[in-house]
Amino acid sequence: MLKTLLATAAILAVPAMAAAQTVGFAQIGSESGWRAAETTLTRQQAEERGIDLRFSDAQQRQENQIAAIRSFIAQGVDAILLAPVVATGWDSVLEEAKDAEIPVVLLDRRVDSSEDLYLTAVGSDLEHEGEVAGQWLVDEVAGEDCRVVELQGTTGSSPAILRKSGFEKAIEGHDNIEIVRSQTGDFTRSRGKQVMESFLQAENGGAEICALYAHNDDMAVGAIQAIKEAGLNPGEDILVVSIDAVPDIFKAMAEGDANATVELTPNMAGPAFDALAAYWKDGTQPAKFIQTESKLYTAADDPMAEYEARKDLGY
Ligand code: AHR
Repeated sequence: MLKTLLATAAILAVPAMAAAQTVGFAQIGSESGWRAAETTLTRQQAEERGIDLRFSDAQQRQENQIAAIRSFIAQGVDAILLAPVVATGWDSVLEEAKDAEIPVVLLDRRVDSSEDLYLTAVGSDLEHEGEVAGQWLVDEVAGEDCRVVELQGTTGSSPAILRKSGFEKAIEGHDNIEIVRSQTGDFTRSRGKQVMESFLQAENGGAEICALYAHNDDMAVGAIQAIKEAGLNPGEDILVVSIDAVPDIFKAMAEGDANATVELTPNMAGPAFDALAAYWKDGTQPAKFIQTESKLYTAADDPMAEYEARKDLGY
């Protein structure tokens, strides 16, 4: 009897193994190399921390993201990561997560909902990225007249809205620089190429275009192809500045086809999981915005070394 009691006491004394935290990730899709890298790094970060990550690819559709969040709530996950495809229309589902006491962390894009509906947002200052790109062009053309064509990101997404306004701020007051055409390329390489082809046709074969500003590198890479097919030299006849710093844009820079990019780190999950770990531990409330860096790279920055440093990151 005594033996049985001691054995039972010993079993009870063993601390219960902490269960792995479960996190649902409502990802946008895989529209760009940057997005693919963000997905890869999120999976890696989760694995390193012993987090059980449940992944949903919304194929660029907000309704799919909303359905994924509802499913994560029904599964009783410990947190939800959301990379919101557009900025509006999230209030109801975020309220549902809040009612279920599930913290939501926004990754890389912003929403126009009230801040109390999410725990924190990890991302760059998207408007500043546009300003950095615009300032690069202002300096590069040094007062010469410059007709710019712009490839916008997904309509209604926070990077498309803010990268546009940031660039416009930077060129404001520089009457030599004018945006003559601006259209969405949906952050994809194929649309970037298609829309650039239409810009070239509309602008006398491209002869009067001085620069391309693309809201991401993938669209720039597609556009570079279109410029070459039109018989022009990208990087020279038409300057190319874009955002993300994916490996392929460094290759293009090394080959003289692109001029500058502003880096957006794809590792949004690291800071997000750090904030969640502190929140789970003792309820620590993180800052509402955890900002990542926006660094400018130009062709003078040893693009092949930058390519090598990034090529295995899942882009
Ligand atoms: O939200 C970040 C943007 O989304 C990246 O710049 C772009 O490549 C991606 O698709």
